[in-house]
Amino acid sequence: MNILFINGSPNKHGNTAKLAELLLDGNNYETLNLTDYKLYSYGQNFADDQFEEILAKMKAADILVIGSPVYWHSMCGAVRNLLDRFYGPVSSGSLAGKKLAFVFQGAAPEAWMLEKGEYTMNRFARLYGMEYAGMVTRGSEAKAVAGKLGL
Ligand SMILES: Cc1cc2nc3c(=O)[nH]c(=O)nc-3n(C[C@H](O)[C@H](O)[C@H](O)COP(=O)(O)O)c2cc1C
Repeated sequence: MNILFINGSPNKHGNTAKLAELLLDGNNYETLNLTDYKLYSYGQNFADDQFEEILAKMKAADILVIGSPVYWHSMCGAVRNLLDRFYGPVSSGSLAGKKLAFVFQGAAPEAWMLEKGEYTMNRFARLYGMEYAGMVTRGSEAKAVAGKLGL
């Protein structure tokens, strides 16, 4: 089972990473920190862009965990940017057979912020053919979502 955790936070060992660790407790997984990659915005076209590298890693995984801190009442720009970049070059259904979980936490997020982020992530998962396993916003939610990931 190849598990990839994509961390949208610049804090490699911050709250998002810690929550993902709780979710994936005891399982081997690779972490991809988006801040280590040059991922330009949708519509930009630079030779050193690394979207294809990230996509290849996502395609090689069986389980994807996307983690985001709440920034400005929503998912962070790095994660939203990744989702934007799928639009066009990646055909719908391209990640079929994979499972995806969303780790989403903030300092004091209101429920609507978390729900809005989850709506987008759920739609993203389903558009590209993945099974959406759920969202983890605090440690007490980790076990149930891990079960849905089959861990
Ligand atoms: C630019 C920025 C915007 C933020 N906006 C929010 C917010 O709207 N709501 C919230 O609850 N926390 C907000 N936070 C706080 C982070 O979500 C919180 O500190 C989170 O735990 C950071 O996760 P990390 O340790 O993985 O980086 C914001 C932080 C930053 C840097």
